Amino acid sequence: MRITIVGTGYVGLVAGTCFAESGNDVVGLDIDAAKIARLSKGEIPIFEPGLGDLFSRNLRDGRLSFTTSYDVGTRHGQVIFLCLPTPPGEDGSADIRYVLSAVREIARRMDGYKIIVSKSTVPIGTFQRLVAEVKQLYSGDFSIASNPEFLKEGTAVEDFLKPDRVILGVTDDRAFETLRALYEPFVRTGAPILRMDSASAELAKYAANGFLSTKISFMNEIARLCEKTGADVDLVRMGMSKDARIGSAFLFAGIGYGGSCFPKDTRALVQSARKLGLDMKIVDAAEDVNQTQKLILLPKILAHFGGSLAGKTIAVWGLAFKPRTDDIREAPALILIDKLLAAHAKVCAFDPEAMDNVKKLLGDKIEYAANAYDALSQADALVLATEWNEFRMPDWDRVKKLMRTPVVFDGRNIYRPHRLREAGFAYYGIGKP
Ligand SMILES: NC(=O)c1ccc[n+]([C@@H]2O[C@H](COP(=O)([O-])OP(=O)(O)OC[C@H]3O[C@@H](n4cnc5c(N)ncnc54)[C@H](O)[C@@H]3O)[C@@H](O)[C@H]2O)c1
Repeated sequence: MRITIVGTGYVGLVAGTCFAESGNDVVGLDIDAAKIARLSKGEIPIFEPGLGDLFSRNLRDGRLSFTTSYDVGTRHGQVIFLCLPTPPGEDGSADIRYVLSAVREIARRMDGYKIIVSKSTVPIGTFQRLVAEVKQLYSGDFSIASNPEFLKEGTAVEDFLKPDRVILGVTDDRAFETLRALYEPFVRTGAPILRMDSASAELAKYAANGFLSTKISFMNEIARLCEKTGADVDLVRMGMSKDARIGSAFLFAGIGYGGSCFPKDTRALVQSARKLGLDMKIVDAAEDVNQTQKLILLPKILAHFGGSLAGKTIAVWGLAFKPRTDDIREAPALILIDKLLAAHAKVCAFDPEAMDNVKKLLGDKIEYAANAYDALSQADALVLATEWNEFRMPDWDRVKKLMRTPVVFDGRNIYRPHRLREAGFAYYGIGKP
C-alpha cells in the first residue's frame, strides 16, 4: 500500500518505519526541513531502541523516503496518517491547529479517493471537524478514520509491531477494510482490531492515559501516607498487586510521571469534560497529585542540608522523562533541577541519551558529565531521577569515594535502603522508612 505519514516525530517515524517493514511504500512528510534532510541521509533525530536497523534497511531498500512537499505527500498516499503534535492550549485543552492545518493542505491537493487517518491524540469531535474541513476544499469521495496510537517511547517499535489492540474509529466499510488489511501483519498473535464509532475511538485514548496516570498518582499518594506511618510503599504495592483485579503494572511510587502524553492528555480530558459541564474529579486529582509529586524530594533535600543548598553540588542521574528515550518533555528531573538552581545549588547531571536535548533547553545553567561517575565528583548528594538500567547497580565504594558527602535521594525507589545505609550512605526514597 502507498502510505504517507504526516509528521515524522516519535509516533510518525516509528509508524512509518514499521509500515515500510511490512512491505508498504511509505513517504514521511514534515515541515521541519532540517529533520527531513537528516532522515533522507539515514540519520535518526530521536533515540528509540530498535528503530535504527529497521529504518536503515527500509530506507536502503526504497520502501521509505522523506519529503517536505505536501504535493508529493498527498499524491503518494492512498492512506495518509496524521502524526502531528496536539500540545496543550492555554486552558489545557488539546490544540489541534497542526492537525487542521495539515488536513487543509492535503484536502486542497486531493484529486481522488484517499483515507485520512488521525493517529494524533485528539479530542472528541475532531473526526467530524476533519470531515467538515475536507468537504470545504474537496468535493470527491474520501474517508476519515480515527486510529489512536498506544505505543510507548522506549519500546515503541515493539509496541507498534505487536500492539495489544488496534482501534479504528470509522464510519464506512471501505476505510475499515483497507486499514484492517494494513494492520493484519501486526496482529497475527490474536490482538484485536476494534472497530468503533469515532467518538469512542477518540475517547478510548484519553481514558487509557487518564487511567494510567491515576494509577501512578494513586500509588504516589499511598507513598505519602507510608512516610507518615512508617510503612514501606514497595511492600504495600506487593500486597496489593497480587490481587488479579489490581495487577502489578504502573504501581511504582516515584517523582511522578512526565512525557509528552500523560500530563497533556489528562489536562485535555478534564478540559473537554468541563466544556460539556462535567467535572472529571479523579483524573483532575491525578494530575494535581503529579504536579506536587515532581517536587516531593525537594523538602527532603533541603531538610538534609539544614534548609540551605547554597554552595552545595547536587549530582542528578537521569534527565529523560523515563528510561530508554531522549524525550525530556515535562520530565520530572527538569522541574526538580529548576528548583535546585533556584535554591542556589550547583547541578551536575548525566543521562545516557537526553543530554543534547537538555543542553538546548538549559545551556550552561547546569554542568553535564561524561558518564554517571563523573557527575559525582565533589557532589554533596546524588539524586536518581530516571531509572536507566545502567544506574541500577553502581559500584557504591567508588560512588562514596567520589562524593563529598555520601547522600542518595532515590526518586524511583530502585535502591535497597538498608544496603546503602550499611555502606555508609544517608538514603532517602519515596514512601520508604
Ligand atoms: N510520543 C508518544 O509516545 C505518543 C504516543 C501515542 C500518541 N502520541 C500522540 O501522537 C501525536 C504526535 O506525537 P509525537 O510525540 O510523535 O510528536 P512530535 O512532536 O515528536 O512529532 C510531531 C512532528 O510533526 C511535525 N509537524 C508539525 N506541524 C506539521 C505540519 N503542519 N505538517 C507536517 N509536519 C508537521 C513536527 O515537525 C514534528 O516532526 C500527538 O498527538 C501525541 O499526543 C504520542
